[in-house]
Amino acid sequence: MQARKVIEDSREIISTFLGCGHDEIYFTSGGTESNNLALIGAAALHKKGHIITSAIEHPSVIKTCGYLESLGFEVTYVRSDSDGIVSIDDIRHAVRKDTVLISIMHSNNETGVIQPVDEIGRIAEEYGITFHVDAAQSIGKIPFSMNGSGIDLLTVVSHKFYGPKGIGALYIKNDVKIAPVFFGAGHEKGLRPGTENVAGIAGFGKTCLLSGRDVNSRAAHATRLSELLLGGLQSSIPGVGLNGHPSKRLPNTLNLRIPGISSFELIEKIRDRVAISSGSACHSGRQTPSGVLKNIGLTDEDALSSIRLSTGKDNTEDEVNEAVGIIANAVNELKKK
Ligand SMILES: Cc1ncc(COP(=O)(O)O)c(C=O)c1O
Repeated sequence: MQARKVIEDSREIISTFLGCGHDEIYFTSGGTESNNLALIGAAALHKKGHIITSAIEHPSVIKTCGYLESLGFEVTYVRSDSDGIVSIDDIRHAVRKDTVLISIMHSNNETGVIQPVDEIGRIAEEYGITFHVDAAQSIGKIPFSMNGSGIDLLTVVSHKFYGPKGIGALYIKNDVKIAPVFFGAGHEKGLRPGTENVAGIAGFGKTCLLSGRDVNSRAAHATRLSELLLGGLQSSIPGVGLNGHPSKRLPNTLNLRIPGISSFELIEKIRDRVAISSGSACHSGRQTPSGVLKNIGLTDEDALSSIRLSTGKDNTEDEVNEAVGIIANAVNELKKK
């Protein structure tokens, strides 16, 4: 009974934080599971049909779409423009009579660029298509509310904003139906059967409580530090360029091209001192150019010389200045090689 109370209290906190009903929150193990449940669950209501997504989605959406294609669904992968933004017109043009689902991320995990989900939601509403948004990277970093958003299904992940790892949720709008993907007992109204991760859920609730209070100040702090970081790197390394839209982006994420170096060599050189990644943090270490960066028009060479840097709520200006110095020195040494 105590565990049940913890779960329901957290559900209440999370729903208040997101601006939705407590009965619209379904706990999962995180982003991958929420995305799989949303896409497969929405598609499974139909024997076949058409799905619209973008070419810059996280692998947990892209690969799930691939799986649905193998079952006979047709998928349109809309590209992004050179700012890393998916075009609303392309989405509208892709709509067909048999389109059953649109899935577009709220902000991109590599570039931090924010997508026009409100406008896409209106298109989905107009045509009566279920609309899923993967908001794994956005929630807790920028103010957000489900209220009036036109979103039917929303992926939320606790460990992207200081909550415990391995817990997340899928928001399912009350009048929207999806089919179960797991089968078992009646937990989470049968949509996510299996004993709940009570400790994770408690921590997820707490992180929403704190983020609800602090999201504006955290965003302002992240913006200040990101600007310092970008300015510092641009003034100490010639030719550093920002990948993705300059302002429609998460305040904490920078994706930068550093001409003339290999991002993998840079990461190797400074990994004990500064945590940076090449491409997406989820699958770094691979020496293939990032599909997301290729999609915004970068050459292989530019994509392979790009790094992703994120600032956090506990970072200080001194740390940012120190990081700039370490990165600039390492880049100079790599260029001399
Ligand atoms: C946009 C996006 N969606 C989904 C995921 C997957 O989340 P998880 O690692 O919780 O499965 C990530 C992880 O980085 C992500 O960035």
